[in-house]
Amino acid sequence: MSGKPAILFVCLGNICRSPLAEAAFRVEVARIGLDVDVDSAGTGDWHVGEPPDRRAQAVASRYGVDISSYRARQVSLQDFQRFSHIVALDLKNLAALEAMQPEGAAAELRLLLDYVEGREGEAVADPYFGEAAGFEATWTDVTIGARALARRIAEKT
Ligand code: 4NP
Repeated sequence: MSGKPAILFVCLGNICRSPLAEAAFRVEVARIGLDVDVDSAGTGDWHVGEPPDRRAQAVASRYGVDISSYRARQVSLQDFQRFSHIVALDLKNLAALEAMQPEGAAAELRLLLDYVEGREGEAVADPYFGEAAGFEATWTDVTIGARALARRIAEKT
């Protein structure tokens, strides 16, 4: 791990929630002038190499962020050394990450909404099988989480 904070957002497919969390976090760190590395990944491998879901691209675009160049990848063991913070979007993915976490890994492993006062332990709901409107709710949740996480990191650096 290098000196600067490095944050990895993790969901299941890396095509809906974690790319949106990555995008919202990139917006927030640029806004507050925080120097960090940022990436996202999935615990599953079904969508590796694919761009984000069209509905995720559309909601990001509505909020001024182009995520069309993002490509899905699967989380790896090296990620636990590379990143200072590994941030799961829901409990199932948090459990998968806990199960694969190497002994003595440096990364802080948390749910995104753990960083939000009053929403600790909550998941960002999976919008993949739902209506397009679900992606608006995803954007709202990841934005709230990204702001809280950025503030937390800014306070510590
Ligand atoms: P994500 O959403 O984990 O937020 O990227 C999903 C994407 C794909 C699938 C499930 C959730 N899938 O079953 O293929």
